[in-house]
Amino acid sequence: MKKQITVIGSGYVGTTTSALLATSGYSVTALDIDPQKVATINSGKSPFFERGLNELITYGISKKTLSATSNTDNLKEADIIFSCVGTPDNPDGSPNLKYIKDVARLVAQYAKPGAVFVQKSTVPVGTGQKLKEVLKDQIYVSNPEFLREGSAILDSILYDRIVIGCEDPVAAKQVEVLFHTIHKNSEKILKVCDMPFPGNIPKAGKTLTVSINSAELIKVTANAFLALKISFANSIAQLADKTDADITEVMDGIGLDTRIGRSFLNASRGYGGGCFPKDVSGLISTAVDHGVNLGIMHAATEVNTAMPGYILHKLQSKTEIEGKKIAVLGLAFKSGTSDTRKSPAIEIANRLTDMGALVTAYDPQANDEAKPDLNPKIIIAPSFKQALNGSVVTIIATDWPEFANASPQFYSDNMSGKLIVDAMNCLNKTDIQNAGLTYIGVGR
Ligand code: UGA
Repeated sequence: MKKQITVIGSGYVGTTTSALLATSGYSVTALDIDPQKVATINSGKSPFFERGLNELITYGISKKTLSATSNTDNLKEADIIFSCVGTPDNPDGSPNLKYIKDVARLVAQYAKPGAVFVQKSTVPVGTGQKLKEVLKDQIYVSNPEFLREGSAILDSILYDRIVIGCEDPVAAKQVEVLFHTIHKNSEKILKVCDMPFPGNIPKAGKTLTVSINSAELIKVTANAFLALKISFANSIAQLADKTDADITEVMDGIGLDTRIGRSFLNASRGYGGGCFPKDVSGLISTAVDHGVNLGIMHAATEVNTAMPGYILHKLQSKTEIEGKKIAVLGLAFKSGTSDTRKSPAIEIANRLTDMGALVTAYDPQANDEAKPDLNPKIIIAPSFKQALNGSVVTIIATDWPEFANASPQFYSDNMSGKLIVDAMNCLNKTDIQNAGLTYIGVGR
């Protein structure tokens, strides 16, 4: 008989996990305290934008393999319980584990003995060992998540690796089987999502079974290393600007070395989102607790924080900002999502407004989510074209395909000025220049 699964927390990770397991045939309950999220899922929709997720939820609800509730009684039936709740920042940069602890207490109170408790939320190393003391009758498994927003479904079915931190081999196997089942259902999942089939589906990735502490440290270290790569690229980009080199060419050159690799070396306005900034500051704070100085991560944070200012400084060297009509294209922290948490694009829009610019901003998915964080003087445009209309300067702050693929002619026809700041290095510099526009990139 297939396992009964409860997924606690209907954020990015929880909702994706629920939808994928339900489409793969498991009976899944999404448990969340927010009645709005519960109602949205039960109506067949995702509480946020992620390509393919609405379709999977609609499918799960219609086949009755997925339902959402706020009723904790449901935990009594569950064989496997996923914890996918948030870990907001404390003022000192450490993660706030209140929700994590609340969930563990709830599961200890309601779940049956022997149920498998799978921790998907990102937690500081050592957390699982403490939670095991709360969950005396259930089996604790650390199973960090590696999916990216914007490509969550593909990342989940075509994963590189599954990391399972667990001392109980039977529970570890049960968790591994869930992900193998999702992988085996790849074709069906893509069909339900109406997403193109990416050639042959590769074999399932490796499973690494390790200690709980190692699993927890693998998760934050992976994100910290990726953040380090981006800040490294952004540091060299500043040198490329001074030496008339092109950072894209430089990174293409070093990326061909298989020891280095090309990914996550794109210079930009810096990283944002709910993961990298929080995981880097969390890692620094864990290291401090253990008397270790992670100076390298302080440096990565410093470079990242400085990037919006660096780009605006480059713009200021070409033109006055005060009183100018400037279009900011993109508000999400990256393309493919409506998530605006710690988005450098919002920081750029707000800073320009503080500098006296008349900013019109537009994002294909994140206009509503961005609004509360934007300076109220900023006009939010309903379309790409309307955002550009009459702007003297355009800044590409998030690399949505509609901005990257628009012709240089489209920009020049709709703008009143000629200056394009490509804060994501996603446009073809030569094409922009050939169209008579002035191009400012990051390290180009
Ligand atoms: C990140 C990790 O990539 C996932 O593996 C992990 O599961 C997730 O955090 C998490 O911990 O939940 P995510 O934050 O969704 O995923 O997005 P990324 O694609 O990693 O991008 C993060 C930021 O880095 C974005 O602002 C993006 O624009 C920026 N970035 C990325 C660059 O500036 N340059 C690059 O070369 C790559």
